[in-house]
Amino acid sequence: MAIQTIRWDKGAIKIIDQTLLPNKLVYLKFRDVKDFWHAIKKLQVRGAPALGVAAAYGAYLGIQRSRAKDYNGFIRELDRVIKFIGSARPTAVNLFWGLDRIRAAAVKNKKKPVPEIKKALLSEAHKIYEEDRAICRKMAGYGARLIKNGDVILTHCNAGALATADYGTALGVIYMAKEQGKRVKVYADETRPLLQGARLTTWELMREGIDVTLICDNMAAHVMSLGKVTKVIVGADRITRNGDAANKIGTYGVAVLAKYHKIPFYVVAPVSTIDFNLPYGRLIPIEERHGDEITTIRGNLLAPKGVKTYCPAFDVTPAALITAIVTEKGIFKPDEIKKIR
Ligand code: MRU
Repeated sequence: MAIQTIRWDKGAIKIIDQTLLPNKLVYLKFRDVKDFWHAIKKLQVRGAPALGVAAAYGAYLGIQRSRAKDYNGFIRELDRVIKFIGSARPTAVNLFWGLDRIRAAAVKNKKKPVPEIKKALLSEAHKIYEEDRAICRKMAGYGARLIKNGDVILTHCNAGALATADYGTALGVIYMAKEQGKRVKVYADETRPLLQGARLTTWELMREGIDVTLICDNMAAHVMSLGKVTKVIVGADRITRNGDAANKIGTYGVAVLAKYHKIPFYVVAPVSTIDFNLPYGRLIPIEERHGDEITTIRGNLLAPKGVKTYCPAFDVTPAALITAIVTEKGIFKPDEIKKIR
């Protein structure tokens, strides 16, 4: 795909600034881990699998100029960097998974001199990036089996190329179905408050020539009631052992609506999004963001100054509302995903 969400480029992390889309396509380069932390926090780079890649490259960025003389000094520094990056956003488990992979690579190479350990960390980050690209295609292959010619798919937030190293999770399924010659239409929820659906999903799908219609979040019930939606497909930020899935705020509501209207509800996510340590969704840490994200849009005030706000960025869809979870290992009923481990 032509969209290069995140990549390593000559000693720096290069990302698309997703806060400026769709008005401007601007690439940013980061050489400093503190600046990159802010980019993650501000959602300039976002989406669970992309955060896994960002975490890995970010960890390398944080130690690439380390002057540690031996492994012990180096791992102490790396642990500080890992803790720092992990503090940027709490919900997407891929962020922590990427950091764990980098730490494990350091431990595996502990006998080597520090410059060699650094090299091993960069190559692990490249590996995570390449794996994500391959995994997205694999998931899309499985997911596309569920898609029939003429399907009309509703999606929430952005689970496309912009949320991964390439191709996407939920949107990857749609891209693959199109490549297979199936005719599909998409309804994209705008996804308040930060409008990932309106700004990013529509931008991506239109570039790929997919028939997409934007609706406000509160229109989904009406659109479903008219029989206009045949499937709901979304991504996930963290799936627990019992198959509960955290995703962008509003996803749970869409799942309830889908159940009421007897519309299949699919979650597409790599195995790195499954948190095998957590038994159920209530235990998932839910990021709360600043109320300004509700009261303003691009600096314009929408509500009385000083109004109280509550701004959870994610919600948890119970396994009972999920028809199936599509991963790179195949398609699973929510209560079967614990077997993947
Ligand atoms: O806050 P965001 O934009 O990082 O939230 C992203 C989502 O909720 C996506 O749906 C999820 O990460 C899946 S991405 C393939």
